[in-house]
Amino acid sequence: MARDGAFFACQSCGATQPKWAGQCPACGGWNTLVEELQSRPPGALAPTKATRARGLTFETLQSENPTPPRILTGVEEFDRVCGGGVVPGSAILIAGDPGVGKSTLLLQVCGEAAKRGVRCAYISGEEAVEQIRSRAHRMGLAQAPVQLAAETAVREILDGLKREPVDLVVIDSIQTLWSDVHESGPGSVTQVRAAASELVRLAKKRGIAVILVGHVTKDGQIAGPRVVEHMVDAVLSFEGERGYPFRILRGVKNRFGATDEIGVFEMGDSGLREVKNPSALFLNGGGERAAGAAVFAGIEGSRPVLVEFQALVAPSAYGTPRRAVVGWDSGRLAMVLAVLEARCGLGFGARDVYLNVAGGLRISEPAADLAAAAALASSALDIALPQDCVVFGEISLSGDVRPVSRTETRLKEALKLGFGRALAPMSQSDSAPMSVAGVSRLVDAVTMIGENAWPGASKR
Ligand code: TYD
Ligand code: MG
Repeated sequence: MARDGAFFACQSCGATQPKWAGQCPACGGWNTLVEELQSRPPGALAPTKATRARGLTFETLQSENPTPPRILTGVEEFDRVCGGGVVPGSAILIAGDPGVGKSTLLLQVCGEAAKRGVRCAYISGEEAVEQIRSRAHRMGLAQAPVQLAAETAVREILDGLKREPVDLVVIDSIQTLWSDVHESGPGSVTQVRAAASELVRLAKKRGIAVILVGHVTKDGQIAGPRVVEHMVDAVLSFEGERGYPFRILRGVKNRFGATDEIGVFEMGDSGLREVKNPSALFLNGGGERAAGAAVFAGIEGSRPVLVEFQALVAPSAYGTPRRAVVGWDSGRLAMVLAVLEARCGLGFGARDVYLNVAGGLRISEPAADLAAAAALASSALDIALPQDCVVFGEISLSGDVRPVSRTETRLKEALKLGFGRALAPMSQSDSAPMSVAGVSRLVDAVTMIGENAWPGASKR
């Protein structure tokens, strides 16, 4: 049983329990309940009989006040993922693994925005002002008029922001903040939630755009920013594969824009560089394409992205063959392998299968099915696809190749990057800008690869 005024809070989902348990009854997480203390601010919260309702006033959808323009930070990839700039008075959470580059990105956003006349503050609970300064110096932002502070007390931050007029404030990170209303330690779910709610209230009240940084840890020991996700207007996740310089900013939730946008950056010695044309980046050089490689013409958000799928099918040394996949869903790989076996007669039973998406990108579009299947078939048959061929299409369990959206956009991007043909779902229109080998069944695609017989020469 908890002590007086104490309760057990799940560090993963935020649910509270009066008693400790090994498993959280709300989210099912194990060992996530931690004792926390809550003390009410004097006079607040406790409802009394004397509390009277103020009455609700309704308003219409029409407004006399024009909506304030969005803040353009000057980091275009960031602005696009936000839905075309940051909305004043909104709260944004940037979540990501420690060390992925969140502080670097946001310092850059502040610096560039400040250069454009936006009043920016960068408040860090993790680094000293001198450290932030030297980082900014390295990133070529030494002259940007950003207000810096190192602070972890929410009360001090709110007080400071009352005195200093700002348009945009970055809080790095939400896990380091503590509010003196609660007694639990910084990083606990109660503290994270309290600090976030105070800052979100400040954003709404004063029209300041607040950007919160949140670390995510795999083991869930530190209160994840999960509880904060409901409070903020937008959640962006900053991702990157270890060992690759590429970083991807992805919209997870956005009340002011589409969530399927991505922003692509490259981490270098002097901070993050925006990558305006990701296709060129994810394609593996210009050399000869080997057997097992297929270029997927995908769509990420509003932009077409070409990326190489690489497959290796090799005899297995073990009784249970290995299936390893990087950058794609392993369930989807199992499905494509099963369809290749059952409908196309390709056997993978005693063979190891490796599938990799080049460049560290994660693909979740169903249109990638055919590209993965083409790469796998090409490796299994040891026959390379034509050098100038892109692939896309969804595969159904019956072995059919189904049409996907935005064919035109995919083909145009491929054409722009020097591709001349495509292996794609059969389509009715023949307005394609290049030679398209249309297939309606996966087995036709496999035959085409196996016989290296491609219809029509490139129209280019
Ligand atoms: P950081 O922004 O501190 O990560 P986070 O805030 O998400 O924890 O970035 C950490 C990594 O970025 C660190 O390993 C060093 C690297 N880095 C560069 O490669 N170049 C740079 O210019 C900067 C500032 C950082
Ligand atoms: Mg950091």
